[in-house]
Amino acid sequence: MTQETPTKVALVTGASGGIGAEAAKRLARDGFTVIVNYAGGAAAAEAVVRDIEAAGGRAISAQANVADPAAVRRLFDHAETAFGGVDVLVNNAGIMKLASLADTDDALFDQTIAVNLKGVFNTLREAARRLRDGGRIINLSSSVVGLRPETYGVYAASKAAVETLGEILTKELRGRNITVNAIAPGPTATKLFLDGKPVEAVERLAKAPPLERLGRPEDIAATIAFLAGPDGAWVNGQVLRVNGGII
Ligand SMILES: NC(=O)c1ccc[n+]([C@@H]2O[C@H](COP(=O)([O-])OP(=O)(O)OC[C@H]3O[C@@H](n4cnc5c(N)ncnc54)[C@H](OP(=O)(O)O)[C@@H]3O)[C@@H](O)[C@H]2O)c1
Repeated sequence: MTQETPTKVALVTGASGGIGAEAAKRLARDGFTVIVNYAGGAAAAEAVVRDIEAAGGRAISAQANVADPAAVRRLFDHAETAFGGVDVLVNNAGIMKLASLADTDDALFDQTIAVNLKGVFNTLREAARRLRDGGRIINLSSSVVGLRPETYGVYAASKAAVETLGEILTKELRGRNITVNAIAPGPTATKLFLDGKPVEAVERLAKAPPLERLGRPEDIAATIAFLAGPDGAWVNGQVLRVNGGII
């Protein structure tokens, strides 16, 4: 009698568009059952689920604002009810609003910290308690933590904090064979990066890395898949900058 290996389950936050949607599709192609989390984009998340199913994969969509701890608890409950547990958490949900410190209002600061930092804290706390042994945690940081460009202050600070949380969690998970890493993309062609930027700014940033193009969501999804898969097993507590060499 042959025994089937149970499918691993990956939860991708903010997977209704951009990098998260590509990561969800890529992980499904690699054999994971995927939970496609979204905040507001129900139809877009459903479209990602349909794409995955059409390609022979398995996925469900699940609404949760990651900034809300109760919603994040329900998201993990939902995953456990549907699939028995979670093996891989991709903390991808994030927002980016740019302003100089002088022009940053309280709402911009509070919203950025609520989603990018508290949101990651909420899912990391749940994962620390509930991720199955042997699991993987992948946090999305940003290369602006290294580049430190003007107007990115609050956003870059939120991502620096995400890197720190992950590095400390790596140690707290000792003995459970769970890796925690961050991926720090450079400019990547998604709504988050392109929205509101003048064409000249996009062109300038596209020329900035030695590879002279913007990142594609698929480039970042490939690195997420590496860290989630068997080849990433020995990478732990690291920040991987994935940016065509911009820094
Ligand atoms: N694009 C870049 O150049 C770049 C560079 C470095 C790092 N990053 C990081 O990569 C990650 C993905 O960015 P992206 O460029 O793919 O962004 P995006 O295209 O704007 O997509 C962001 C996703 O996050 C979801 N989201 C936003 N707020 C949420 C919340 N409170 N709860 C749950 N989901 C939420 C959105 O879902 P709904 O539409 O359903 O709300 C959307 O699916 C972010 O953490 C970003 O900071 C991006």
